[in-house]
Amino acid sequence: MSFSAVDVIRAKRDGHRLTDEQIDWVVDAYTHGVVADEQMSALAMAIFLNGMESSETARWTRAMVMSGDRLSLDVDRPTVDKHSTGGVGDKITLPLAPLVAACGAAVPQLSGRGLGHTGGTLDKLESVPGWRARLSLDEIAAQLSSVGAVVCAATEGLAPADRKLYALRDVTGTVEAIPLIASSIMSKKIAEGAEALVLDVKVGSGAFMKTLPQARALADALVGIGVDHGLKISALLTDMSVPLGVAVGNAVEVAESVEVLKGGGPADVVELTVALAREMLSLAGISVDPAAVLASGEAYETWARMIRAQGGDPDAPLPVGGHKHVVTAGESGVLSTLDAYAVGVAAWRLGAGRARKEDPVQAGAGILCLAKPGDRVVEGQPLLELRTDTPDAVPYALDALTGGWTIAESAVPPGPLVIDTIRG
Ligand code: URA
Repeated sequence: MSFSAVDVIRAKRDGHRLTDEQIDWVVDAYTHGVVADEQMSALAMAIFLNGMESSETARWTRAMVMSGDRLSLDVDRPTVDKHSTGGVGDKITLPLAPLVAACGAAVPQLSGRGLGHTGGTLDKLESVPGWRARLSLDEIAAQLSSVGAVVCAATEGLAPADRKLYALRDVTGTVEAIPLIASSIMSKKIAEGAEALVLDVKVGSGAFMKTLPQARALADALVGIGVDHGLKISALLTDMSVPLGVAVGNAVEVAESVEVLKGGGPADVVELTVALAREMLSLAGISVDPAAVLASGEAYETWARMIRAQGGDPDAPLPVGGHKHVVTAGESGVLSTLDAYAVGVAAWRLGAGRARKEDPVQAGAGILCLAKPGDRVVEGQPLLELRTDTPDAVPYALDALTGGWTIAESAVPPGPLVIDTIRG
């Protein structure tokens, strides 16, 4: 069936629900260049302004899944994946995927690169010497069977409609629309073929969603789409007002993840890794205690096998930014805030992130948060350690950090890291 793009735009502009047939047609026609970028821009803006009903969002997602391949993961263990909406210092996939695999599930993690102030999992892993992000479908299947965990780049054929639409939204001010974000994330996850999915929906200054009601609305939309597509699905709402862990960057986050896999690491990273692992294992129907597996060292063994399977050397020294700049406390007291967004932007400016998707990132750039909210500090004590290969970037990073922390006489104890869980 064929429609007029202008009629579809008018329908959404005037606040109507698009029919299933209109949605299927417009997504397919846009993917194949029949609907032009300027027409899809107008439609995206109409969706941004007028929203979509949940059944409409589910159909839009289905149309984006149908625009490309759908993997069929032929493995003899339950498959379960996790997706984070993105945060500062969010390295959780690195310890989580091998941990959940070591507990008996298969974890296919088709990940992206960072854009803006939140880092990308592939950028972090590429700081491991030799590690390769691009795998063929056969390699993904073989590694899932042999190791149980794969973290790699999404193949070109997965949800091509989303790839095209996301690039358009990026330049037309239409990224921040809940139906468009939810359908974009879920189309890729559904196409990837896992049976179960746990979402880490971040809320706070360092996240996409700055407030709890916004994050809850996104989580509800994501879970609703998953249920509609027959996925076992849950969403954890987690705090992203403060960076996760100590390390923010690429190699520094890999090093911190390895500490966690060896039984150490910062308490918040361990807490969130274990909470997400519990939820993933519960959806996969596996009753194993992930905290015990983490403590046993088995998760580290799986990590080492996962890295080797993709050409990496888990024992090789990680790159370290050649220039170091330490920021110290200007007074004594209690560190009461450390703003995730400020730290994320500073790390990005030091070279850990990219401004355009074709830019390279520095493996050794990043920030170590040497004090976290609630810690008592004395004047002159190191608060942040900045690392980069481009020392000229330091003043720009320091600009981003202006007002990024406060020291007070006392501090309100931080709220919970896992704020709520929404189950499908
Ligand atoms: N991540 C995605 O994959 N899509 C969005 O629209 C936003 C975040």
